[in-house]
Amino acid sequence: MRGRRVTLSARHERWMHVVLTSVYVTGIAWMSLHYGVNRGSALEDGWHIVETWMLRAHGAAAMTALIAFGSVLAIHIPSAWKLERNLFSGISMLTAVALLAVTGWLLYYAPGDSARAWASYSHMAVGFAGPLVLLWHLAYRKRLARGARKIERMERPESTPGTPQIVLSLRPTSKGKLTLTR
Ligand code: HEM
Ligand code: HEM
Repeated sequence: MRGRRVTLSARHERWMHVVLTSVYVTGIAWMSLHYGVNRGSALEDGWHIVETWMLRAHGAAAMTALIAFGSVLAIHIPSAWKLERNLFSGISMLTAVALLAVTGWLLYYAPGDSARAWASYSHMAVGFAGPLVLLWHLAYRKRLARGARKIERMERPESTPGTPQIVLSLRPTSKGKLTLTR
C-alpha cells in the first residue's frame, strides 16, 4: 500500500541490526572495562586506553543509532502507528531510545556529580535491557507467521471423504488489521 510500508527492506533491517549491535557492544565493553578489568588499576595501564577508545567508539555508534532512529521515524513508525500494529512493543522501543538519548545528553551536561551519576546508572540500566525490548518488538513477526500457519492448516484440514470443508481466509479491515472470514 502506498505510503504504508511498515516492513523494512532486508538491507534496511540488516543496517538497523548492525548499528544497534555496535552501540550495545561498545556500551557493554566500556562497562566491563570500567567496572571490571580496570577497576583500581593504574591509569597508564594499557586497558585504560582501550576503555577510552571504547567510549569514543560508543559515542560514534550512538550518533549513528540516532540516524538509524531517524530512518524508522520517517515511514516505519507513522505507518505502523496508523495501522495500530505492534503498538505496545513499538512504544517501548520509542521510550527506550528517548531515555537513552536524554540520559546520554545528561552524561555531558548534568549539573553536579550526583545528577551525572544518576544519569549514568539510568543510562546503563536502560541500555543493558535494550535487547530485551528489541526481541519483544521482533516477536511480532513470529506471532504473525504462527497465525498464518494456523490458518493455513484450518484451510487445508486432513479431511475424511464426505466431510464438508470450511474455508477461512485473512482479510485486512479498513484499519489494516487482519480479520478471519469464511
Ligand atoms: C525506535 C523505534 C523503532 C525501531 C528501531 C524499530 C525497528 C524495527 C525493526 C528492525 C523491525 C524488523 C523489520 C521488519 O519486520 O520490518 C520492526 C518491525 C516492526 N515494527 Fe518497529 N521499530 C520501532 C518502532 C516501532 C513503533 C513505534 C511501531 C508501532 C507503532 C512499530 C511497529 C512495527 C511492526 C508492525 C513491525 C513488523 C513489520 C513487519 O514485519 O511487517 N515499530 N521494527
Ligand atoms: C540510542 C542509543 C544510545 C545513545 C544515543 C547513547 C548515548 C551515549 C552518550 C552520549 C554517552 C556519553 C559518551 C561520553 O561520555 O563520551 C554514552 C555513554 C555510555 N553509554 Fe550510551 N547511548 C546509547 C545506547 C547505549 C546502550 C545500548 C548501552 C548498553 C549498555 C550504553 C551504555 C553506555 C555506557 C556504559 C556509557 C558510559 C557511562 C558513563 O560515562 O558513566 N549506551 N552513551
